[in-house]
Amino acid sequence: MLIRQFPEGFLWGASTAAYQIEGAWNADGKGESIWDHFSHQPYRIENGDTGDVACDHYHRAPEDVALMKQLGLRAYRFSLAWTRILPAGRGTVNSKGLDFYDRLLDELHKAGIQANVTLNHWDLPQALQDLGGWANRDCTDWFADYARIVFDRFGDRVALWATHNEPAVVASGYAQGVMAPGLADASQAYRVVHHLNLAHGKAVQVFRQGNYRGKIGIVLDLQNFIPASDSEADHLAAQRVTENAHDLYLGPIFRGRYPAYLSEWLGALAPQPQPGDLELIHQPIDFLGVNHYFTALVSHHPHGGLLKSTMSMKTLPMWGQTEVGWGVYPAGLTAMLHKAHQFAGGLPIYITENGCAAHDEPDSDGFVKDYERIAYLRLHLIAAHDALQAGVNLQGYFIWSLMDNFEWASGYRPRFGIVRVDYATQKRIPKLSAHWYAGVIQANAVTL
Ligand code: FCB
Repeated sequence: MLIRQFPEGFLWGASTAAYQIEGAWNADGKGESIWDHFSHQPYRIENGDTGDVACDHYHRAPEDVALMKQLGLRAYRFSLAWTRILPAGRGTVNSKGLDFYDRLLDELHKAGIQANVTLNHWDLPQALQDLGGWANRDCTDWFADYARIVFDRFGDRVALWATHNEPAVVASGYAQGVMAPGLADASQAYRVVHHLNLAHGKAVQVFRQGNYRGKIGIVLDLQNFIPASDSEADHLAAQRVTENAHDLYLGPIFRGRYPAYLSEWLGALAPQPQPGDLELIHQPIDFLGVNHYFTALVSHHPHGGLLKSTMSMKTLPMWGQTEVGWGVYPAGLTAMLHKAHQFAGGLPIYITENGCAAHDEPDSDGFVKDYERIAYLRLHLIAAHDALQAGVNLQGYFIWSLMDNFEWASGYRPRFGIVRVDYATQKRIPKLSAHWYAGVIQANAVTL
């Protein structure tokens, strides 16, 4: 039997995000976030779903940590709701919000599970959005202040801090209208890109100045974009899409510059750093988190929006698409890990998200035999192992997601969890994939 053995100490975990699981959207003094605001408007989210209750994790955290322990997770990646801690985004601190995360961190510690915390998984305080949100340069200082508060309070118990999760998706919320805040204004979106980068730099600076324990990095979504044909037009379209999705972040953070071709293409829309900004952004970090789900074929298209491009999914011949319409092409993960390794200059890389919305069919007990998800995960772990063998400094893997949850504009329809959530009863039922993953963790290996 062929066995893909992972290195000793490889970090196996699962990921979630505050708005997607916590619920309790206005409990104990929590303020309104842009996702609360957005999901409460008609026709923004499929089926009119909201994160008001979600998985009610706010009230069930101890039970959820017990479940993580039962699965043998070595680490748990979650995000803080900025509005629980600072209901208006700045100013008065809500101690009950801090207390919730205190309890969660203590539970994780007792269970022997490493805590990895993201500061910004998209749920910006609405009070700050009312002032322009990430399009307002002051937001970079509000973020740094928020970061200081949470580093001071939790800095002794967090192993890995991430400033942002997928800043490209945050920026898309200002450009495409699909995600909160639901704006469609490209001129704001590229200002947002720069401010997200600058906010990252300022938070890293605060972290270094405070000498906290743990490490700090950022989580980027690196989907693999390849030209649909050999034509020069398709090559350039793929380059524009790639630079827009990856290099607007990788470039300034690791090389101290924005991508030249895209900046030229964008003209006056391109990010406009002020003197000193790029130095702040381009300071050493400790790790890079990579979220990866799919590979897309990019074609040039004269009516394809600002980037004049269209995309279709690349998928292995036996696979159609996952429940959310994404293809399955594991070699894309290997390629993205190589790219991450190259940019990050050998820093530790973590796969901070990877997973599959499968067509789950529960039996009468709510048990799901999700062979489709297991196959997806196994193929991607083998692809990750390929990168390891080729010398990529990959140190961990986090499944998206620990449990089914609120999938943003798609509401509760897609189910990404390895644990089923019965939303009517809030019962958690580990799927077959959860049992499979527990076996992988225990063996520190995947069998072919
Ligand atoms: C990523 C997000 C995560 C989840 C997965 C499916 O883009 O970071 O919150 O929605 O996609």
